[in-house]
Amino acid sequence: MMNVDAIANLLLDWYAANARDLPWRRTRDPYAIWVSEVMLQQTQVATVIPYWERWMGRLPDVKSLAEASEQVILKLWEGLGYYRRARNLRLAARQIMQRSGGVFPSDLGGMLELPGVGRYTAGAVCSVAFDEPEPIVDGNVVRVLSRIEAVAGDPAEPSVNRQMWGWARQLVEAASVTGRAKACSHLNQALMELGATVCTPREPECTRCPLALECRAYRAGNPAGYPKARSTPRVTPRHFVVIVAEHEDLLCIRRRPDNAVNGGLWEFPNIEVNSPEADPSAIVRRLFGVRRVKPEPWCRVRHSITRYRITQHVHRVAFLGVRPATRAAGEWRTLEELRSLAFSAAHRRIVDRLGEANESAD
Ligand code: ADE
Repeated sequence: MMNVDAIANLLLDWYAANARDLPWRRTRDPYAIWVSEVMLQQTQVATVIPYWERWMGRLPDVKSLAEASEQVILKLWEGLGYYRRARNLRLAARQIMQRSGGVFPSDLGGMLELPGVGRYTAGAVCSVAFDEPEPIVDGNVVRVLSRIEAVAGDPAEPSVNRQMWGWARQLVEAASVTGRAKACSHLNQALMELGATVCTPREPECTRCPLALECRAYRAGNPAGYPKARSTPRVTPRHFVVIVAEHEDLLCIRRRPDNAVNGGLWEFPNIEVNSPEADPSAIVRRLFGVRRVKPEPWCRVRHSITRYRITQHVHRVAFLGVRPATRAAGEWRTLEELRSLAFSAAHRRIVDRLGEANESAD
């Protein structure tokens, strides 16, 4: 990378004048920073702030997290998605209690031993909490660096990715010898902050960018052309039939297995189908062992996770008389009880709609 020292200094100057005042930037507690960095993976700053504040209020340190039940942490995480992150935080806290009596590891190697902590998270906590010259590369940093260097390759390619980590390391090491306060912490956060606020994906504001004159993509007049898009869009549609089964004032729900996506969260019984035209009666029969009932189509809920575009086709069915034994290992609860359980995002929306439907019926 050209002009590493100049770029590092420009970033530090820019950050000193432009850093957003975020709650986790007022602390150097590695626990608090770790929680923020894990929440910020896959989730925007504005969404994370209230979650982080609520979490820190309830679970202010490693010990309280290690002692919390899984349902408590899933409820605190509800809506952030990618729940494995929350479960790994708790497992890591338990490991820290066992191995070092609750003292957070202070070096990269120690952090990398924690469940769910990879190169990004370890680098973030090392640099932000301890001001160590460890690089970090996330989606924002990839965008900034691939523009500065006008990178021709796909950053998902291992060789290109290695290049990104190499540049990020050069920059944070250059910052570390400037003698400026919290230089490594600020350099890494400046790269991410620039990517989030100025060097944005579609319409970067190069007139506000401290690095414009150092940026090859800007000089070539095509900053938005980087990073190079991957050649094949990886989008896959998936369909699920969801059954909201009622018996008197109870609804049938089940807990997802621990090792599944969204493990430990609650949901309505459902089955993945190949086509949205799948017969819901057959699905009721399979889930509840009940024949000849005709569920009513009720609503569709769409959401995306990683490369999947998911549609939930929601049907309602009311069982009269004897409650069916649920083959789907479901449990029967009131709507009021559902509100306090942690649901996956799509199923939480179904719960909310049931609440709205009830209110308008009152
Ligand atoms: N995104 C993730 N972590 C961040 C941080 N510490 N500063 C700015 N953006 C971020």
